[in-house]
Amino acid sequence: MSGGAYEEPRFPRFARLWPRVARRLDRDPATRRIRAELAAEAHGAVVEIGCGVGSMFRFYPADADVTAVEPEPGLRAAARAAAAAATAATPRLRIRVEPGVAEHLPVADDAADVVLASLVLCSVPDQAAALAEIRRVLRPEGALLAYEHVRSSRRWAAALQRGVTPLWSLGAGGCRLDRDTEAAITAAGFEIVGRRPTGSEHAALTPHLSVTAR
Ligand SMILES: C[S@@+](CC[C@H](N)C(=O)[O-])C[C@H]1O[C@@H](n2cnc3c(N)ncnc32)[C@H](O)[C@@H]1O
Repeated sequence: MSGGAYEEPRFPRFARLWPRVARRLDRDPATRRIRAELAAEAHGAVVEIGCGVGSMFRFYPADADVTAVEPEPGLRAAARAAAAAATAATPRLRIRVEPGVAEHLPVADDAADVVLASLVLCSVPDQAAALAEIRRVLRPEGALLAYEHVRSSRRWAAALQRGVTPLWSLGAGGCRLDRDTEAAITAAGFEIVGRRPTGSEHAALTPHLSVTAR
């Protein structure tokens, strides 16, 4: 198990802002569809990194046993409330919310059938370390389910993302618009084996992907 010390949250303003953004996303039909499709593949032992206020929880299938990791104390408290509501609605579903960061997961080697990352690989300070850690906790046949906004494949849009990122990042909890997360996932030794439409693949600032990688 890696676990251990992790840096205290550095974005208290973002932690206060995110619940409002999350509530808006919760009402958005496209986001709900994407979350539902992602969670539909999350069976067995699931590790969710950076769960925020627990927006994924209501979508997990009844046979999921979820360890959700969230570094921000305020978001973690909201996630624990969301976990209580989701497990009350679906009695076999189990969800524990733990402190920690994706770069040092409090999870044993080869313990997870699924690691789920939703809108978080844009924000982790060390994406390569987080992906190596995801590989460590996944059993060999396990799957990474990732729903992320990524660098645009269009040069002008990628340049715009690069230009906007320093300011954006300050207000958005370290989130970067210019990460080529799909390339990072494959560089970490995963193969993309599934791709779900997001409807925003071609957005200029925040094109999203939703993929399964093994
Ligand atoms: C944009 S929010 C997304 C929350 C949630 N996954 C969702 O889909 O609504 C990004 C989340 O990543 C968390 N985060 C930031 N750095 C992290 C890290 N190094 N490891 C794990 N989570 C992190 C933030 O605290 C925040 O909850």
